[in-house]
Amino acid sequence: MEHILFLLTIFLGLAFSGRCINGYSRNDFPKGFVFGSATSAFQWEGAVDEDGRAPSIWDTFVHSGSGPNGDIACDGYHKYKEDVRLMYDMGLDAFRLSISWARLIPSGRGQVNPKGLRFYKNLINELIRHGIEPHVTLYHNDLPQALEDEYGGWIDRKIIDDFTAFANVCFREFGNSVKFWSTINEPNMLAPGGYDAGIIPPSHCSPPFGTFNCSRGNSSTEPYIVLHNMLLAHASTAKLYNQKYKDKQNGSIGITCYAFWMVPLTSSKEDEIATQRAKDFYIGWVLHPLVFGDYPDVMKKIVGKRLPNFSEEESNLVKDSFDFLGVIHYTTLNIKHFSNSLQGDYNADINAALINVGNSTLFTIDVLPWGLEGVLEYIKQNYGNPPIYILENGQPTYHHSSLNDMGRVEYLHAYIGSVLKSVRNGSDTRGYFQWSFVDLFEFVNVNYTYGLYYVNFSDPERKRSPKTSALWYSAFLKGTTKEPNKNLLVVSSSSPSLSSQ
Ligand SMILES: *[C@@H]1O[C@H](CO)[C@@H](O)[C@H](O)[C@H]1NC(C)=O
Ligand SMILES: *[C@@H]1O[C@H](CO)[C@@H](O)[C@H](O)[C@H]1NC(C)=O
Ligand SMILES: *[C@@H]1O[C@H](CO)[C@@H](O)[C@H](O)[C@H]1NC(C)=O
Ligand SMILES: *[C@@H]1O[C@H](CO)[C@@H](O)[C@H](O)[C@H]1NC(C)=O
Ligand SMILES: *[C@@H]1O[C@H](CO)[C@@H](O)[C@H](O)[C@H]1NC(C)=O
Ligand SMILES: *[C@@H]1O[C@H](CO)[C@@H](O)[C@H](O)[C@H]1NC(C)=O
Ligand SMILES: *[C@@H]1O[C@H](CO)[C@@H](O)[C@H](O)[C@H]1NC(C)=O
Ligand SMILES: *[C@@H]1O[C@H](CO)[C@@H](O)[C@H](O)[C@H]1NC(C)=O
Repeated sequence: MEHILFLLTIFLGLAFSGRCINGYSRNDFPKGFVFGSATSAFQWEGAVDEDGRAPSIWDTFVHSGSGPNGDIACDGYHKYKEDVRLMYDMGLDAFRLSISWARLIPSGRGQVNPKGLRFYKNLINELIRHGIEPHVTLYHNDLPQALEDEYGGWIDRKIIDDFTAFANVCFREFGNSVKFWSTINEPNMLAPGGYDAGIIPPSHCSPPFGTFNCSRGNSSTEPYIVLHNMLLAHASTAKLYNQKYKDKQNGSIGITCYAFWMVPLTSSKEDEIATQRAKDFYIGWVLHPLVFGDYPDVMKKIVGKRLPNFSEEESNLVKDSFDFLGVIHYTTLNIKHFSNSLQGDYNADINAALINVGNSTLFTIDVLPWGLEGVLEYIKQNYGNPPIYILENGQPTYHHSSLNDMGRVEYLHAYIGSVLKSVRNGSDTRGYFQWSFVDLFEFVNVNYTYGLYYVNFSDPERKRSPKTSALWYSAFLKGTTKEPNKNLLVVSSSSPSLSSQ
């Protein structure tokens, strides 16, 4: 049965926190500042064994348990025109997508899959026709399983050439339409998550460190080797782009960094030092090599021989190998000095406890917009104020809760306001991408989704329904709402499992 959505404009006198910047509109941002939204291939496309796509490590991971899988996800592969239409209606300037390597080059190297190629050409053209700028991420945790099987994927330096060759196909085929390329999505989450704790693909770990019993891995060394190879693959790809494509295609290339903001739990010296150490292990791990050509000193000292070193040539290759940095930020943590009894993995090397702030948990996050300001200010002051696109920011909510996601509206309003404050204080931030456009297959916990649009995953049609946040973001993008307390409510008359407040 069709849902009837009554869209009501309701003026709510919501009190927003005093630390937020109020009453701004998108016109307060510099000319050319881009507002978008994001998805990733595996979480959105589905169609996992259609038209020649081969499995990625993500397919293998979700099929190894009895839980849900991404076989259909949002069915974006078939519904991309509908979604682009929704983006257009919403007023997005830009859309961040990723390319499934295993759809484009199923064996990881060699033969290009013509149907995969056609899909991405169609999607990119559809965006361009609607005046929406594609921001393309080449790698979002979905390595072709073939390369994992052949040589262990990211743990082997062979990945550098294979990744660069994959990127070459993308630049050659899509580069006349795509001006913004990000090589690798949050390497500093993929490496510890996938190779120390083993909780995300390809779930490598070794006792006693892993969360599960992994069939392969070495938690002491692999996270560092993997991130090193990711930096080298990124740098090799950036070099290729700069030499062969940049002048012709007028684009730019960057990499992303996952950035918690971190503040000491107490005012003790130990916690203060631990906080700086944690910033170096998370943010510096990626940014220090990109800006200075080497890892932070504190990492070299603590990790010792387990930390790969850069040859002089590699150091020069990695240094300055980005036009922009993609920042991924969701929340702020308190840091407490902590001597781990276990020694020798990435977590123990940091020697700090990461503690949620306020009421935040893994899946419910408080509105702490000063955290994003902290991240942007830190990068400005310590890493030469590079051009930044915030490529992910958003709030998870329980999937089956109300379409009236006022909490998400408050979150987005506050965080976008913090971006404005940062820009006004000199941060070279040039764009903001909300995560995620529609509810996606969130594999860490499928019950917590980030979408502006609700997706009914029980419905074979994967029907999309706008949440209040979709209406608010659209009004913000169109400049028709300025004050934070003017909000749109979605009232659904017929969604049994979704309560409308
Ligand atoms: C891992 O395997 C060992 C030995 O089989 C078992 O004792 C342990 O409980 C397992 N750990 C987890 C987290 O499954
Ligand atoms: C991990 O690699 C290091 C260095 O090669 C080695 O000393 C250690 O024994 C390995 N650990 C495991 C669990 O294989
Ligand atoms: C790149 O810019 C040049 C000069 O502005 C222009 O002639 C050319 O058509 C552009 N190329 C693409 C692919 O947009
Ligand atoms: C880097 O590692 C290589 C190989 O392990 C070693 O030969 C070289 O001395 C190291 N360089 C530095 C500066 O530590
Ligand atoms: C935590 O929850 C309490 C009770 O709902 C609320 O008063 C407080 O403001 C929340 N803290 C934050 C940081 O949001
Ligand atoms: C604004 O920028 C200046 C100069 O970088 C810095 O000293 C100051 O702390 C910044 N203010 C905030 C609130 O971040
Ligand atoms: C998601 O919610 C369903 C229904 O309440 C529950 O059965 C399932 O265990 C939950 N999944 C996770 C990962 O928490
Ligand atoms: C989701 O779709 C299923 C199957 O079409 C339907 O029974 C259910 O009511 C829908 N749920 C919501 C919240 O719309």
